[in-house]
Amino acid sequence: MCKKTAIYPGFFDPITNGHLSIVKRGLEIFDRVVVSILNNPQKIPLFSIEERIAMIRGALKDNPNVEVDTFSGLLVDYVIQKKSNIILRGLRALSDFEYEFQMALMNRKLNRDVQSVFLMTDYKWFYISSTIIKEAASFGGDVSGLVPEFVNEKLKEKYLQAKNT
Ligand code: PNS
Repeated sequence: MCKKTAIYPGFFDPITNGHLSIVKRGLEIFDRVVVSILNNPQKIPLFSIEERIAMIRGALKDNPNVEVDTFSGLLVDYVIQKKSNIILRGLRALSDFEYEFQMALMNRKLNRDVQSVFLMTDYKWFYISSTIIKEAASFGGDVSGLVPEFVNEKLKEKYLQAKNT
């Protein structure tokens, strides 16, 4: 049987339990999942690429069928370069739909051999995003249980550093 690899792209700034749930559920369908961080110099992230790679690797260290990688440029080109034809994405509430639909159609226009596959986010992670987690954490809000514990610690460190500079 031919092994199927899915590419799970995003910014992952930082990785959340919602992302991890999609990776783990993806592994129930695909043989391998490549978590790929978009390296976008136009966007200033909270965590560097190296920090994000380390956090994702740490969170998924017990999953040998996961690779963590970075990419720049067109996603569909990267998917082909990784010898895959599948983009894996999570879908939260209605608000995600329009953006994901637009992106999937654009990716399809760019390369019809690449398929976008969506998994509905588990109800537990329905309301979370990296952005809302960063916002809550930046004001000292408790985000434990929404990100892996070491990511929570990293968030606290970052915002403490920012406060002291
Ligand atoms: O974490 P995000 O914001 O949901 O990830 C968005 C991402 C990285 C999947 C998207 O911005 C992307 O694929 N960018 C690469 C550039 C590209 O291929 N654009 C054309 C298709 S919309």
